[in-house]
Amino acid sequence: MAYSFDQAADRSKTPSVKYAPAFLRTIFGSTDVLPMWVADMEFEPAPFILEALEQRMHRGNLGYEVYADSLHEAVASWFARRHGWTFKGQDLLFTPNVVSALAFLLQELTEEGDGVIVQTPVYAPLFHTVLATHRKPVYNSLRWESGRYEMDFDAFRQMALRPENKVLLLCSPHNPVGRVWREEELKRLAEIAEEGDLFIISDEIHGDIVYAPHRHRPLLSLPFVNPKRVAVLSSPAKTFNIAGITKAFALISDRKLRRAFKSRLEALFLQHPGALAQVAMEASYREGDAWVDELLAYLSENKRLAEDFLSTHCPELGIAPLEGTFLMWLDFSAYGLKGKALRDRLVQKGKLGLNPGSWFGEEGASFMRMNIACPREMLMRGLERVKLTVDS
Ligand SMILES: Cc1ncc(COP(=O)(O)O)c(C=O)c1O
Repeated sequence: MAYSFDQAADRSKTPSVKYAPAFLRTIFGSTDVLPMWVADMEFEPAPFILEALEQRMHRGNLGYEVYADSLHEAVASWFARRHGWTFKGQDLLFTPNVVSALAFLLQELTEEGDGVIVQTPVYAPLFHTVLATHRKPVYNSLRWESGRYEMDFDAFRQMALRPENKVLLLCSPHNPVGRVWREEELKRLAEIAEEGDLFIISDEIHGDIVYAPHRHRPLLSLPFVNPKRVAVLSSPAKTFNIAGITKAFALISDRKLRRAFKSRLEALFLQHPGALAQVAMEASYREGDAWVDELLAYLSENKRLAEDFLSTHCPELGIAPLEGTFLMWLDFSAYGLKGKALRDRLVQKGKLGLNPGSWFGEEGASFMRMNIACPREMLMRGLERVKLTVDS
């Protein structure tokens, strides 16, 4: 092993969201919690990213930049190596971040009041963006069936066939339920989208954090998908833990949509990269294979330890099988806990700060999302705190 993930980054020296006292007070009513909420990792970034940034600083010249050809090549090569997919170079557009790209696409593809289907429980900014752009979220709840979450295709089809519903927001892999959608599921989804004339925006930011034997399939790479109906959004933020310094990208095959998307970025003067952001992105995708392989090995052991610990010590707790992402979705309903009472119990008895499940949709009221991308020592402390909470 070339890299170690046992050492936590010292986050007291930078104003991180996860540890900011004002956030902790607002969300948990206390600063005395072990924070295992926001979806970034407790690990330092890979050394080759820091070295590339240092070299860039030594070069000086911090005026406006364009996205370098070498960055385009690095992203394309990463997808070819890691996902076995060679996309068309022209389809790649850089953008400030995933969530704003989603907003630009919604503005382009829909009118105010149009319906946008979201599969809840899901990363809340997806439906918040629908509301913020004055579109209407149409909630297609995932179903818990035979020990894992499934899409409700029958309800989805009915929604897709209604002409006022124009777009599906797919989260693939799915935050927070941890599913990595199988090819047959994506096929069915694509067929229904075709039938209902729906466009699919696929948020694939967690696409590199997938545990064998599961495999992430970029939606645009699939032969049965109509490329004119799909946009894929992603970034290296989750994979490399560089959310504070990266940009994102969109893969859009439809030329007209690509042009319109670009015009929106230019109209808001968002077409330029950050000089350091593009260096961090390029170093990640160019040199990151071994680091990500070792990260995945570390995370899968964390996942195993967490599943073992919780099923042994908190047998009533529901655990959604984690196929991808580093976010565990835990169901406390058997303990009669939900909403604020659940959050308060975790804070008061366990001194633990997890994301309240209700943030992800009303289906999540009795759930909490726990971030396991941390050194084992911290993970075990967090797990003990869950046990303390349910034992009390
Ligand atoms: C599914 C999903 N999409 C998007 C984001 C955020 O992406 P960005 O910061 O690029 O907007 C996150 C962060 O947690 C996420 O989980």
